[in-house]
Amino acid sequence: MVCIAVLGCGLLGVKIAGEMAYHGHKVKLYDSNLTALNAVYDKIEEDKEWMKSEGLLSNNTFIGQIYCLSRLEDAVKHADFVFEAVVDDLPIKQDLFERVTQCCPPNCIVATNTLRLDITAIVERATNKERTVGLRFLYPVYYIPEVEITPGGFTSGKTIETVRQVLENMGKTLFFRSGSEPLVLSEEQREERKKACIGRLKENCGVDYVFSGNLPELGHRASIGSGINYDQTNSNMSDADRDCAICMDRTRDCLLCPCHHMVTCTECAKSLLNRRDGCPICRTDITEMIRVYHS
Ligand SMILES: *[C@@H]1O[C@H](CO)[C@@H](O)[C@H](O)[C@H]1NC(C)=O
Ligand SMILES: *[C@@H]1O[C@H](CO)[C@@H](O)[C@H](O)[C@H]1NC(C)=O
Ligand SMILES: *[C@@H]1O[C@H](CO)[C@@H](O)[C@H](O)[C@H]1NC(C)=O
Repeated sequence: MVCIAVLGCGLLGVKIAGEMAYHGHKVKLYDSNLTALNAVYDKIEEDKEWMKSEGLLSNNTFIGQIYCLSRLEDAVKHADFVFEAVVDDLPIKQDLFERVTQCCPPNCIVATNTLRLDITAIVERATNKERTVGLRFLYPVYYIPEVEITPGGFTSGKTIETVRQVLENMGKTLFFRSGSEPLVLSEEQREERKKACIGRLKENCGVDYVFSGNLPELGHRASIGSGINYDQTNSNMSDADRDCAICMDRTRDCLLCPCHHMVTCTECAKSLLNRRDGCPICRTDITEMIRVYHS
């Protein structure tokens, strides 16, 4: 499991977050637009429903959890990877890269999902530019293996290698752009990839194929690059699930009302309540919180 932050919950950002959660990663999705952020939960539920009906998902659960957060720092503070997917506007991306690279860990990889902007220009004011890279997911992200990688002027070989390993463990294939036009898949090409993906899922489960568990299996934990420290921090899923989803330092010890999700510590819940923010899971407005005492 990798801790992933996705910035921007437009059409692509939500799908990237969903795809990462499908593969078992912990995802924090950030947007400053609360209306857009509050709509994420329903969109993800729709995607799950659809994937289930297509045979891409066994039941309505992704293995990884998605947390929707309205403060950038909360989203990226402990991230191993940041996928930026906000509007394709240079000044906006430049500002975001400056802020993100100041508050995420120093070796966290920060990738921009730009269609046409220059990577080197986007990261102009970023710190530790060697961990920045262009990475473009193709719509609708789920079941599309191709991901376009574009190194910027500062991108290191180690960054490319880490990105390659993490994405290949999710069945993705990196490609470099050839020519000046970005690759956009046609409806038929998407359909082909979907069929291939369903075929692979069936094959992996053998002849007695039944949707017995969440697909795919989380076989990727062991073989990931040196840049990321899974084993120490995240290998124990149940431990990870006990930490507050926002600060990740303290234990989850309170229920948010009225939704009754237990995802934060009391301090972070107070801070959400004070600024009239929503539950990180379902974005329901918080009216009060109930402290829980673990035995
Ligand atoms: C916020 O998101 C909503 C829903 O996506 C959109 O309609 C609205 O225009 C956005 N507001 C701003 C200020 O961008
Ligand atoms: C989905 O599948 C998993 C694994 O088999 C199971 O633990 C979980 O309870 C299922 N969830 C639902 C809603 O059926
Ligand atoms: C994972 O967490 C559980 C529950 O606290 C604990 O019993 C188990 O020993 C842990 N496993 C590892 C490998 O740390």
